[in-house]
Amino acid sequence: MSEQLILGIETSCDDTSVAVVSQTGRVLSCKTASQVEVHSGYGGIYPEFASRAHVEAIIPTLGAAMKEAGVKPEDLAAIGVTRGPGLIGSLLVGIHTAAGLGAGWGVPVYGVNHLRGHLRSALLEGGRVTYPALVLLASGGHTLITYMKDETSMEPVGTTRDDSVGEAYDKVARMLGLGFPGGPEIDRIARQGTANIRFPRPMLGKGYAFSFSGLKSSVRRHIEQNPAPIVADVAASFVAACMDVLVGKCRTAITEFKPASLIVVGGVSASAQLRDEMKNLCDASGIALALPPREWSTDNGAMIAMATWDYLLSDAAKLMEVDPNLPVNQL
Ligand code: KG4
Ligand code: ZN
Repeated sequence: MSEQLILGIETSCDDTSVAVVSQTGRVLSCKTASQVEVHSGYGGIYPEFASRAHVEAIIPTLGAAMKEAGVKPEDLAAIGVTRGPGLIGSLLVGIHTAAGLGAGWGVPVYGVNHLRGHLRSALLEGGRVTYPALVLLASGGHTLITYMKDETSMEPVGTTRDDSVGEAYDKVARMLGLGFPGGPEIDRIARQGTANIRFPRPMLGKGYAFSFSGLKSSVRRHIEQNPAPIVADVAASFVAACMDVLVGKCRTAITEFKPASLIVVGGVSASAQLRDEMKNLCDASGIALALPPREWSTDNGAMIAMATWDYLLSDAAKLMEVDPNLPVNQL
């Protein structure tokens, strides 16, 4: 096989995902076992059940990914596996599986930063990024902006003081009885509503820090005071507040940092509205927008495989320690 291939394994939260990806970002296969049914009764992720579900799913998912890609272990240049941040029990399942496969197959294994995975998801399937770049990473676990002078540097600019934006989407969805995970449902229903309720825009115009817990409480108060709310209007008004904050902070950062491109990644980058608003912002600012293909916005093995090239090409240490709080600017 002429192209070098990487096997990527992701188990940091509630998706067991395994992918085979080439150096150019071609996804030969990506198989994901979702745990939505395991956790839906709890309205959130139950860590103990997540680990058990990963144990059950990982070998069948691996087999399916290898089969669909049509590759054998000897075709692989490396295995990349998420080592953090995430739930410790879930991360350990991926790390132990990868370590076993690497030892058995004689293939090098790299522990990969999940956030670096999201960042590199923008390079999948022909994606291109020009530098310097600003990055907005908006997921269920994180909401942050970083600045990349070049392909390898990373300077934290701002992060959230409390909840992430994805967490706020999920909690508001729960308040509105929209099920779990709520982000995609809020995104869908918001498009049918009118943003006619004025929720706060926390921290807007106050530097690069985010805060979403006050916005969430204000949606809760509105629902308490209006026991039969128009769900689509509440969702649309909540999304409008989130968009104003995310777009507003990126606009300020673009003016200050003058990047050549804006990279928008993480589960919330699957939002149609966020994609549209960021496109408008980048067009108006005369810079490029880099987004992952929508199906690779949420957690997946393909982004972990893609990020593994950073480790291989920089000859980084093969760290296999699980780190539930691994920061964005560390490999
Ligand atoms: O990146 P991700 O899969 O996991 C973490 O690393 O946290 O992000 C998951 C988050 C969840 O909060 C989910 O509700 C949100 O991404 N999400 C969305 C959409 N799809 C997933 N939020 C808004 N619109 C969507 N279409
Ligand atoms: Zn993620």
